[in-house]
Amino acid sequence: MFDNISGNYDFLNHFLSLGIDIIWRKKAIRLLKVIKPKLILDVATGTGDFAIEALRLNPDKVIGIDISEGMLDMGRKKMMARGHHQIEMMTGDSENLPFEGNKFDAIIVGFGVRNFEHLEKGLAEMFRVLRPGGKVVILEFSRPTRFPFKQLYNAYFNFILPKIGRWISNDKAAYTYLPESVQAFPDGEKFTTKLSDIGFKEITCQPLTFGISSLYTGIK
Ligand SMILES: C[S@@+](CC[C@H](N)C(=O)[O-])C[C@H]1O[C@@H](n2cnc3c(N)ncnc32)[C@H](O)[C@@H]1O
Repeated sequence: MFDNISGNYDFLNHFLSLGIDIIWRKKAIRLLKVIKPKLILDVATGTGDFAIEALRLNPDKVIGIDISEGMLDMGRKKMMARGHHQIEMMTGDSENLPFEGNKFDAIIVGFGVRNFEHLEKGLAEMFRVLRPGGKVVILEFSRPTRFPFKQLYNAYFNFILPKIGRWISNDKAAYTYLPESVQAFPDGEKFTTKLSDIGFKEITCQPLTFGISSLYTGIK
C-alpha cells in the first residue's frame, strides 16, 4: 500500500495535516537534545522526513529503515537532491531489525508503530538495538476525547480526509486504512503500558494538538 502512495505521500502528509505534522516532528526531535545522540535509527522512515529533522541534533549518522521500496526510493531521491549524506536509507523490517544489540543512541518512529503487524515484536526489537541509557521517541496518531474536538476530528478524519486522499493519490484503500488503523491503535495509557512491559523506563506521553497525535518517550 505504501509503495502505491509513495509518489504523493509527502504532499498529502502536509496537505491533509494542514502542515501540523512538521511542527510535531520538530517538537519530537527537541526531546532528544538532552542526550546528544550521535547514531540515530529512524524506524519506518518512509520518505525520510523525520530522519531529516533529526539532523538538527548534529548526529554523525542517521539510519532510516523501511519495508517499502517505493517510499525509500522517494526518500533516497530527496536525500540526494538536498545533499543529506549523513542519512542512510535501508530496506528492512522493523520486526526483525538487521542490527546488533545496544547499537543506537536514539530511536525515532514517526507514524510508523501503528502499521506494525505485531506491535510488541517491533517495540522489543527497538529496545534490543537501543543502547542502555538511550532514548526512544515515538510520534503517533491518537484520538481526541473532548468535545468538540472529538466530533470535529471524527468528521474530518473519517469522511473528508479519505475522500481527498483517494482523489489525489488514486488509491482507494490507503486513506480508508488511515482512520481505521488509528481507531485500532492502542493509544495513550495502553501504549505506555506496552512500552513499560517491554522494559522501557521513565516513560512519558504528551498529547499534541487536542490529542490528534501523541508523543511517547522512554529510556532503556
Ligand atoms: C505513515 S508512513 C510514516 C513515514 C515517516 N516515518 C513519516 O513520518 O512520514 C508509515 C511507514 O511505515 C512503514 N512500515 C510499515 N510496516 C513496517 C515494518 N514492519 N517495517 C518497516 N517499515 C514499516 C511503511 O512502509 C511506511 O513507509
